[in-house]
Amino acid sequence: MPGPGSRDRRNEPYADRFLKPFREYEDDLGEDLIGGRARLNLSRPSRIPAHPRLVIPGDPASREAFDRAIQEDPASPLGVEVGSGMGRFLRGVAQARPDLVLLGCETRLGFCLKGLQKADRLGIKRLFMVWGDARATLPLLVPAGRASQAWLLYPDPWWKRRHAHRRHGARMAAALAHVLGPDGTLTLKSDVPLYLQAMARSFLETGLFRRDPGPGPDGFLPPTDRELRLRHDQISSFTFRLLRT
Ligand SMILES: C[S@@+](CC[C@H](N)C(=O)[O-])C[C@H]1O[C@@H](n2cnc3c(N)ncnc32)[C@H](O)[C@@H]1O
Repeated sequence: MPGPGSRDRRNEPYADRFLKPFREYEDDLGEDLIGGRARLNLSRPSRIPAHPRLVIPGDPASREAFDRAIQEDPASPLGVEVGSGMGRFLRGVAQARPDLVLLGCETRLGFCLKGLQKADRLGIKRLFMVWGDARATLPLLVPAGRASQAWLLYPDPWWKRRHAHRRHGARMAAALAHVLGPDGTLTLKSDVPLYLQAMARSFLETGLFRRDPGPGPDGFLPPTDRELRLRHDQISSFTFRLLRT
């Protein structure tokens, strides 16, 4: 507990920090992509077991099941999450909305696999994970306008200058705008208000999104792993909703 006279900073843990600038509008992301552009051509490392719903951009065969899932039933809505970690949020969505096909994007291959294995144990069959930086993988994998909802939940604020280019700005906005159909919803959540505002501002500045005038998050949104930790530590989190223009 904070001592007498000190401020209780549990709800403002980042109050004295600021976001370092980064180049949001580079034409070619090149090595700014997490893992570098070369990763897009890599196949699955042998230490990672194959999984029928693990999509590896460098292995075209690995995307067949996902392609089938979104083509077989074009009316079946697609939901996309960027930065899924081990997929707790998507498993919650899958259980509440079995009609959705779900795609999680994650740069950590081990997390992709763990998330899928946990989904298997729950009998969830329509949740796919793609390995790699979503700024590159989403346009490669998802037909334009195919998704009805997207989520970007508790991304790392990357405080260090050398990591600032990993923050979500105009390039991520373009990738998410590519997958979302007109009026598709994008929910952003963060416990770092500064970062949430910066993301929302740069997404709106692209003209690809408008602010959702609605009252708040769409119905039931299951918690992410980070959200559960924040709740436990009684740290506030914030939500911003956008609509595809
Ligand atoms: C801070 S964690 C939050 C994970 C989860 N959303 C949660 O709330 O528990 C951010 C996750 O996003 C992933 N990530 C970061 N940038 C990404 C990108 N450009 N594309 C895909 N995944 C990304 C990281 O590997 C990490 O697992």
